[in-house]
Amino acid sequence: MSDSDSSLSEPVLKKAVLKEAALAPWRSSLARALHRNRSRPYSRYFQLSTVTAAGHPANRTVVFRDFLPNTNTLTVVTDQRSAKVADIAAHPWAEACWYFTHTREQFRLAGPIAVVGVADSDADLKRARQTAWEALSDNARQQFYWPHPAQPRESEADFSPRDVDEAPPGEFCLVLLIPHAVDHLELRGDPQNRTLYSYQADNTWQVKVVNP
Ligand SMILES: Cc1cc2nc3c(=O)[nH]c(=O)nc-3n(C[C@H](O)[C@H](O)[C@H](O)COP(=O)(O)O)c2cc1C
Repeated sequence: MSDSDSSLSEPVLKKAVLKEAALAPWRSSLARALHRNRSRPYSRYFQLSTVTAAGHPANRTVVFRDFLPNTNTLTVVTDQRSAKVADIAAHPWAEACWYFTHTREQFRLAGPIAVVGVADSDADLKRARQTAWEALSDNARQQFYWPHPAQPRESEADFSPRDVDEAPPGEFCLVLLIPHAVDHLELRGDPQNRTLYSYQADNTWQVKVVNP
């Protein structure tokens, strides 16, 4: 895996997302894990790590929303005002770490990351952002109307429920993680199984079964 891909300009990167062709070989393992762990709602949470402008790691839990249709791209929703959006602008590369407790397997997915916001003009990405907004519960949508995250809590701050708009507010963003390297560790094997998937410049995947 080369880090040079992280220097892709954002429009180029977003177009690249949409051009992905074949589904990656790790997709079936991840789909199986999601299916087998579906009775545990927290199976859709993973940890997403970014790099701050100062070069420090930053990690937080997020909810996997879906794959961007016909791609290998993971989507997450977030607030434009959150620190991770500034991290991504400074360093558009991230790693997700996802552990499935029932099947006892971990996926680490690393690659370019991009934010789709209100100003994006690409029709497919606009649609994807709108679809993600519509898929959210009313409760989840409320948060995007709350006062600025991580600012001091004012006693008069308004967190009261309000009518949500059909169009997402400017604060609502769709985050796209495009895995270029995937490390799948299955603790259940005897011995454990570990498979590394690496995206190649010719749009293929190299698959290596390695020691755990
Ligand atoms: C279970 C759980 C799920 C979460 N899901 C999301 C999410 O999907 N998107 C998001 O932006 N923050 C989510 N959060 C909040 C983040 O973990 C984090 O606190 C927030 O996004 C601010 O992070 P930042 O300052 O690094 O941007 C979730 C937190 C928890 C505990």
